[in-house]
Amino acid sequence: MCGIVGYAGTRECGDILIDGLRRLEYRGYDSAGVAIHTTNGVERVRAEGKLANLERAFRDTPLHGTVGIGHTRWATHGRPSEANAHPHMVDGFVVVHNGIIENHMELRDELEAGGDRFESETDTEIIAHLVARERPKTDSLLEAVRNTMAQVRGSYAVVVMNADEPDLMVAARQASPLIVGLGDGENFAASDVPAIMMHTRDVVFMNDGDFAVIRRDSVEFSDTSGAPVTHTAKRILWDPVSAEKQGYKHFMLKEIHEQPDRIIDTMRGRVSLETNHVHFPDMALDDEVLSSVKRIIILACGTSYHAGMVGRYAIEKLARVPVEVDLASEFRYRDPVIGEGTLIVAISQSGETADTLAAVAEAKRRGAKAIAICNVIESTLTRVCEGTIYTHAGPEIGVASTKAFTTQLVALYLLAIWLAQERGTQEPAERIELLEGLRRIPGQIEKCIQDEARIREFARNYVDVHSFLFLGRGMQFPIALEGALKLKEISYIHAEGYAAGEMKHGPIALIDDDLPVVVVAPRNEHYEKVLSNLEEVKARGGRVIAVTSEPAGDVLRHADDVMTIPEVPELLQPLVTVIPLQLLSYCIADIKGTDIDQPRNLAKSVTVE
Ligand code: G6P
Repeated sequence: MCGIVGYAGTRECGDILIDGLRRLEYRGYDSAGVAIHTTNGVERVRAEGKLANLERAFRDTPLHGTVGIGHTRWATHGRPSEANAHPHMVDGFVVVHNGIIENHMELRDELEAGGDRFESETDTEIIAHLVARERPKTDSLLEAVRNTMAQVRGSYAVVVMNADEPDLMVAARQASPLIVGLGDGENFAASDVPAIMMHTRDVVFMNDGDFAVIRRDSVEFSDTSGAPVTHTAKRILWDPVSAEKQGYKHFMLKEIHEQPDRIIDTMRGRVSLETNHVHFPDMALDDEVLSSVKRIIILACGTSYHAGMVGRYAIEKLARVPVEVDLASEFRYRDPVIGEGTLIVAISQSGETADTLAAVAEAKRRGAKAIAICNVIESTLTRVCEGTIYTHAGPEIGVASTKAFTTQLVALYLLAIWLAQERGTQEPAERIELLEGLRRIPGQIEKCIQDEARIREFARNYVDVHSFLFLGRGMQFPIALEGALKLKEISYIHAEGYAAGEMKHGPIALIDDDLPVVVVAPRNEHYEKVLSNLEEVKARGGRVIAVTSEPAGDVLRHADDVMTIPEVPELLQPLVTVIPLQLLSYCIADIKGTDIDQPRNLAKSVTVE
């Protein structure tokens, strides 16, 4: 997490840095700061809380200069405060950092024993101390940074400046994203493309172990040994982030409404209307790998993990390949067995989630091939995998994932259909029917979204409860998990998702009128069974909100509130049952007045373990 921006050029850089940070706020938003070379050396402005606080502080104390760095933070070491906000400065050496220095305790002890005094509780400040210690022993700031990074263990994207060397900054990357933007008489460093895209579209994606010396008229790359590295800039062709709410109260609501169009984007160019075949023109995966797939392991975190759980049902059903789904954070440490013919499918909206990247690296180290399902173009995940199915969801700004999830589901359905088609495990007629079903989904989601006003009405009755239970069976189990996750993320109400069949093994003890139960019960092969679960809840005095297919029929008699979905093929139901759950969470949170787009303690991109 944490967002970094650096600028070396000829323009006043204060606004350039703050504007860049605004586009990186999704990475963290608990404090922020900038440091700029001014006529008085390097000066800093930092503020606790949202970026707006930094903007206010900067307006009160503007800094003038044409070389500077900025940072928006998601606290790992030390609480969010002005003292812990980056940039950190020691004897004129200034540092912004994204990542975690794992050996920070021993380094800090050593530095303190040598007489250094620390101003913050962060691991980052250590880097500033070390650079200050190394610089006098070396010829250049680059050398001092290289010697410093050789002493730290962990992940980092860092940019360093020195008050005595006003025309350059040094950047280094290890397991945290960092890019360099090449402009005309000005150059940039940033954690992500949107931060600098309005200034340049020529970008170098730094690799692990890369160092860069960035000046207004040059950028030089080198590796850990000091040898020069040549990079060719990539031209970014996609559109700038549409960071506008376009009349919606929150980005999350806008993104919920965008889902029909984004799903069309996910399918675009991948389903032939003439032949009804699925193909992935942009994903290179050779036939040999494909034909030798014996087992698939899906790796992901958070909402992407829930998408993976749905994907397992679809792939196993259609392509008859055994699929495991694992949380990336668990997989990476469990000494996994990777047999021959194992294909990893890594799912990540951002493509920068540290655990997912590490899990893929672990699997590849053990001989697996990996493909990604990812939203962010050129993100790290897409560069370490053999191929990528881009979801084309467009930038997702709301921290609670909505359109990223449904587009991931569509990508997984397409993957399942494609595997089935290539392996000959599905009748063409069934494929055609399923593809027709997929084409109707955007219109059906549209219909679900129109229910918002009615959902808002009954959501009022639930804003004061302390806990929710979400139940689902089969493919609706991951949807129950996702519904619970959405609610807790943005409303701060505790919520638990459970497999409906497991209710009797524990959660039933909790049921009373203070624990609303959301039952996901569309008409499908599990319908009768889930209805029984619903009745069991009612029999114990529980309040029930049901998601079911229209007409609601039997469910109406037992549920206190009902949200309906149109009739869709059973396999595709998760794409629509999740919509009312997104809206329910949104409405409850909105009525409560929480910070929906930037909920407390969370971040959009989790680049630390
Ligand atoms: C964070 C986000 C979630 C997301 C998860 C995994 O927790 O808040 O919305 O699902 O990370 O992120 P990824 O980018 O890998 O999908």
